[in-house]
Order: sequence, then C-alpha cells, then structure tokens
Amino acid sequence: MAAPMTVAFTAGDSGDWRITAVTGVSGPPLPVAPRLAVTTGGPPPPGTWTLTGTTSNVRYATSSEMGQLAARQEGLGRPQARRAALIPIRKSEAWWDLAQDERRAIFEERSRHTAIGMDYLPAIARRLHHCRELGGAYDFLTWFEFSPDAETEFDAMLARLRATEEWRFVAAEVDIRLARD
Ligand code: HEM
Repeated sequence: MAAPMTVAFTAGDSGDWRITAVTGVSGPPLPVAPRLAVTTGGPPPPGTWTLTGTTSNVRYATSSEMGQLAARQEGLGRPQARRAALIPIRKSEAWWDLAQDERRAIFEERSRHTAIGMDYLPAIARRLHHCRELGGAYDFLTWFEFSPDAETEFDAMLARLRATEEWRFVAAEVDIRLARD
C-alpha cells in the first residue's frame, strides 16, 4: 500500500475547484465559500475552513474486493472529471462501540457498500481520507471526481447508500459539490 498521505481541503477564495452547492444532509452544514483548494503536502492556504485527513490502509475490503476494485477503478485527476464532491462524514458512538466483525457485517454483508459503489466504476473516481484520530467534527473526508454527465448517476448511488443500514450510523454528513473548467 502507498504510504499515508495528508490532504487538506480548504474553502475560501482560492483553489482549483468552484463550490457550486453545500448541503447539510445530517448535522450542521459547513459555511459556503467561493472556491475549494486541495493541498497534498505543504501548508494549506488561508480560508474560511480547512478539513484535514490522511489516506490509510483498508479496514473492511477483502482481498477479492480489493482485486475487483483495482481492476475497475480509475485514478483522480482525469481531464474529463470536471465535477467533484467532498462529503465529510461522522459516524455515531454506537458505530465505534461495535467490534470490527460487526462493523464489517453491517458495512458489506448487510449494506453492500462496496457492491453498490462498484456499479458506478470507473465513472466515479474516489479517495477516502480518515480523520477520526485527528479530532474535529468528522471521521472521514470522502472525495469523488466524475464527468458532468455522470452527476445523475452519482446522485443515484448516494440515494442507494443513504438507504442502507450502514447510514443509520451516520451522525453528520455534508455534501459539497464542485466544478472546474
Ligand atoms: C469506505 C468503496 C462510494 C463513503 C469504503 C470502502 C470501500 C468503498 C471498498 C472500504 C475501505 C476499507 O476497507 O477500509 C466505495 C466505492 C464507491 C464508494 C467503490 C463508489 C464510487 C462512497 C460514497 C460515500 C462513501 C458516495 C459517501 C457518501 C465511505 C465511507 C467509508 C467508505 C465514509 C469509510 C467507512 C468506515 O470505515 O466506517 N468505500 N465507496 N463511499 N466509503 Fe465508500
């Protein structure tokens, strides 16, 4: 696995991405700003807010799932991927009180998170950042990139995921949509 990478998301006046919408799905929304800067390494620019997370090793995916993902997924930064979503998520104490095997059972055997997500590859590219150990309001910063014509499919995937048992443990979620020219 690649070494963990620290990534900062800063909403403010600078950055490659224009913020097109900020929706508080559950819990409080985040303040709106014109642009979002994504900084990997080095200090983030000043801004209205910065959320920081790190990439990490997988927790739940099996070797077979990792193989299927690797075969289908594409990387970030594709030129046609001119839309993105940053979705910070916090899970409830009830989730974190569960044992690893119980969380895996909810995440995949019962909620089919990876199986649902795989239906949308390679159109949607993704990177998961962890931040529970850093303190702050969220446990995860999820990042997705796709072409403008895939946004409807992306919304359909979100509706399927949000209807799962896993999402009953989501205590806070903000959906930030982005565009670049
Ligand atoms: C975790 C796949 C979409 C939120 C994961 C994991 C996989 C995965 C394999 C487990 C990583 C591990 O083993 O640690 C996918 C695929 C998607 C997708 C293929 C399709 C693009 C989404 C979306 C959201 C999301 C749209 C948010 C709205 C999360 C979160 C975790 C996660 C929060 C961490 C869960 C935890 O550790 O408790 N995803 N996902 N995913 N995904 Fe997705």
